[in-house]
Amino acid sequence: MEDNVLLQVSHLRTQFETKEGIIPAVDDISFTVERGQVLGIVGESGCGKSVTSMSILKLIEKYNGRILAGSSVKLEGRELLGLSEAEMCNIRGREIAMIFQDPMTSLNPVFTIERQMVETIVRHKKIGRKAAHSTAVEWLAKVGIPEPEKRIKEYPHQLSGGMRQRVIIAIALSCDPKLLIADEPTTALDVTIQAQILDLLRKLKDEVNAAIILITHDMGVVAEMADHILVMYAGRALEYGTKQQIFRNPRHPYTKGLLASIPRMDRQEERLFSIEGNVPNLLKPVEGCVFRERCGYAREACGSCRPELLSLPDESRVSCLLYEKEAKESAHE
Ligand SMILES: Nc1ncnc2c1ncn2[C@@H]1O[C@H](COP(=O)(O)OP(=O)(O)OP(=O)(O)O)[C@@H](O)[C@H]1O
Ligand SMILES: [Mg+2]
Repeated sequence: MEDNVLLQVSHLRTQFETKEGIIPAVDDISFTVERGQVLGIVGESGCGKSVTSMSILKLIEKYNGRILAGSSVKLEGRELLGLSEAEMCNIRGREIAMIFQDPMTSLNPVFTIERQMVETIVRHKKIGRKAAHSTAVEWLAKVGIPEPEKRIKEYPHQLSGGMRQRVIIAIALSCDPKLLIADEPTTALDVTIQAQILDLLRKLKDEVNAAIILITHDMGVVAEMADHILVMYAGRALEYGTKQQIFRNPRHPYTKGLLASIPRMDRQEERLFSIEGNVPNLLKPVEGCVFRERCGYAREACGSCRPELLSLPDESRVSCLLYEKEAKESAHE
């Protein structure tokens, strides 16, 4: 089992110091990603999905953030958080590739696709320019770009949004990363292109046997793609389990709310369910459960102490007092 673990994130805490105060953007998040598997990270805007992925790559300091002592991010058993910037440069792109949420930051508008791809491949794979060019063309073909020899000479603005995203995926995978972090890879695209890109990611993942962390606010996307799912809220993990556990037997009231708000093709509802209320202001420390103000099951105890991430008998995990009894029973077995 242990051998299959590619990435192990433990007690990750990342904060931003702002003029208004400290923002605990990621507040004690733990998860593992196994080789060849897809972990979906879901949650509403601002819950800490992007900050989690930027922390894994140690890109947080650039944004005035700080990863707190006690946090750990291990890739194949090697702690990344203690590595120097030079060492991290060898990990980024090579061992862990990332597709960033903002598509405009991923391709440089002033260089051709060729230049961007060849440079990345030469740097990471330590091969010559000619071999790198062939690899680049091969990858463009693999991601479904027609006439790759011709398109590789073009600039990003000459490609459609869907084609640009294919190029970004080609760059990310062309250096054979062990892990791909894809942050909202399809959000900027229209629905049909979205489905094509997800399909492509799934196919290529099997081909290169990379693991994926797929970040999205869309439960429909994780339903299609993920093996395991982490549900985040206000910087914390509220639930973690296999896709089957999360979709067939969601435990946390927040997860239940997220599932109820997925649009369904087979039903014409007048109004889609949405969870009432707003996410808490992270500048104000929360004593108890972060979801309690929006939770239909909240009781007094939810306000006094932070619920731990409980292990349930089926090995899924949930941070909610409603499951304390169930978790205790499984601990005594
Ligand atoms: N550079 C920064 N300085 C201060 N606060 C930040 C910074 N970057 C992110 N945050 C805060 O950290 C929290 C988590 O942000 P994050 O970008 O991870 O959310 P997200 O889950 O990716 O949301 P979205 O779905 O909108 O992409 C938010 O409250 C955000 O305002
Ligand atoms: Mg984000």
